[in-house]
Amino acid sequence: MSLDLSIFQDAAQYLRMSEEKKMEIMAKQIALAKTIGGPKPVWVPTPEDPDLGYTRGLWSETKAGMAQLVRDDNGETYAVKEDDVMECNPPKYHQCEDMANLTYLNEASVLDVLRSRYTEFLIYTYSGLFCVTVNPYKMLPVYAMYCIDAYRGRKRNEMPPHLYAVADTAYQQMLTYRENQSMLITGESGAGKTVNTKKVIQYFALVAAAGAPAGKANAKSAKDMSLEDKIVSANPALEAFGNAKTTRNDNSSRFAFHILGFSEEQIDGIWKISAAILHHMNMEFRNKQREEQAEADGTDNADKCCFLLGLNSSEFLKYIYRQPGPLLQGCPC
Ligand SMILES: Nc1ncnc2c1ncn2[C@@H]1O[C@H](COP(=O)(O)OP(=O)(O)OP(=O)(O)O)[C@@H](O)[C@H]1O
Ligand SMILES: [Mg+2]
Repeated sequence: MSLDLSIFQDAAQYLRMSEEKKMEIMAKQIALAKTIGGPKPVWVPTPEDPDLGYTRGLWSETKAGMAQLVRDDNGETYAVKEDDVMECNPPKYHQCEDMANLTYLNEASVLDVLRSRYTEFLIYTYSGLFCVTVNPYKMLPVYAMYCIDAYRGRKRNEMPPHLYAVADTAYQQMLTYRENQSMLITGESGAGKTVNTKKVIQYFALVAAAGAPAGKANAKSAKDMSLEDKIVSANPALEAFGNAKTTRNDNSSRFAFHILGFSEEQIDGIWKISAAILHHMNMEFRNKQREEQAEADGTDNADKCCFLLGLNSSEFLKYIYRQPGPLLQGCPC
């Protein structure tokens, strides 16, 4: 039996499409797929429009290992290696809630699912255990108290994707196994880590603080505050210590070091080590001619890395070139 979306009240349209809308979209997708038994529907790269990335097309033929892809929108042909062709998924996966179910898991299909869901303000999508979130830059009613109630103690696979489902799984597992749990919230600056972390904290506080009544007024003295109020109100105070502006976020969180009590010198050291690791990763090597020995292809990155670590760059490279000693020989690492 399908889930009764009325439990989500105003938030329903931002969490799952209604059956009628789904059927309407499916009919359009079936019309687009159109080629049962004919050329395969594929994603064609759109180098002239990097924001779009890919558009629909058909795999018309293959010449010398190169697939000839014809765009639906303008009939232009684009050739890619046969192995690099990204097939479109069957229409039933359009705007699917869990991308791990896709028949063809490729970059273009993942982008298409996320983008088409985002146009409907369906901001949460699963990818297996992960919950991918796209920042809506506007407050949706999906964090209302009735949503928290709806997700409490419910099975993840019977509910629309939501951060609350992930939080609830962690909470239930903590109770079941009596073990600490962790959630990884990651993304570029402005992706919504802080906002979503606050929502998770709020969820835990409300679910865990026994008997906390819903939707209480904020104007309370510290003594009267519930556990939920205290935890949630601690966050803005922490943010005040280390907010910065980035190109993507006016309210960027950069306060971790201050919480951990690092001195300025230690913070400087951490940045240096991080930058050194990045330069180290950018180092390139080539084979020395007629020898089975590698050598650095330019020393720019090695020099920068060593400058940051206070090392002598040529000594450092010599050490890297050295044949492994008896201890390391045969070591798989
Ligand atoms: N789920 C959401 N609903 C509405 N607005 C959001 C949501 N997530 C993020 N935003 C908006 O985007 C802005 C940036 O989000 P946030 O501060 O959480 O980014 P961040 O990932 O923590 O970035 P940084 O790494 O720079 O700290 C928020 O101030 C808010 O305006
Ligand atoms: Mg942040």
